[in-house]
Amino acid sequence: MAHGQFITLEGIDGSGKSTQAKLLAASLRADGYDVVLTREPGGSEGAEEIRSLVLEGSPDRWSAETEILLFTAARRDHVEKLVLPALASGKIVICDRFADSTRMYQGLRAPHLRKIVDELTDLMIQVEPDLTILIDLDPEVGLARAKSRNTSEERFEDFGLDLQKKMQSGFLHLSSEFAHRFQRVNGDQDPNALAQDIYALVRDKLKCR
Ligand code: TYD
Repeated sequence: MAHGQFITLEGIDGSGKSTQAKLLAASLRADGYDVVLTREPGGSEGAEEIRSLVLEGSPDRWSAETEILLFTAARRDHVEKLVLPALASGKIVICDRFADSTRMYQGLRAPHLRKIVDELTDLMIQVEPDLTILIDLDPEVGLARAKSRNTSEERFEDFGLDLQKKMQSGFLHLSSEFAHRFQRVNGDQDPNALAQDIYALVRDKLKCR
């Protein structure tokens, strides 16, 4: 069976993932690749509905445990409906956030939670990215960028600088833990220069197939 490539982008809020995901998709399409650009939470009809539940409302709306279930339910639907069919037909799937975000945003909320995220992911998701780009950025810069966006999806931005710092160092640890699939790039540079760094890493990965 044909198998495409599953590329995820991760990083703290305001790290520029969404912009970079779009630029990467455009470059790969220009090279002739069949690309599916998607995001989490969301990416399928059911998962987009869950997205509003988890990202809107007061910061204490859900416990971390309930969030793990909601994000994993959204991910399961997204994987079933969009990601696996696209990979099976040989496409490149670029996804703005995936299970690593749950490992960080929910999994670091209390010492016992990371294990729950991993177990639930093994049980219900199974698919792992072929390549994960971590856009590393100073937490204060990320927070300032995220705050200036002014959307209704601010449950996590409301948690402030301490959360951003914890997420940044957590992502760095995660990139060592899953060193076989993570590549780190510097998010504090011009978006086009950053896009070139990411494109070069992806091209290397595609060449090794
Ligand atoms: P996203 O739309 O990527 O926003 P941003 O562009 O600001 O990074 O993600 C929205 C929020 O959802 C973000 O604060 C991180 C959070 N999130 C989790 O807490 N767990 C998850 O599993 C995912 C995918 C996202």
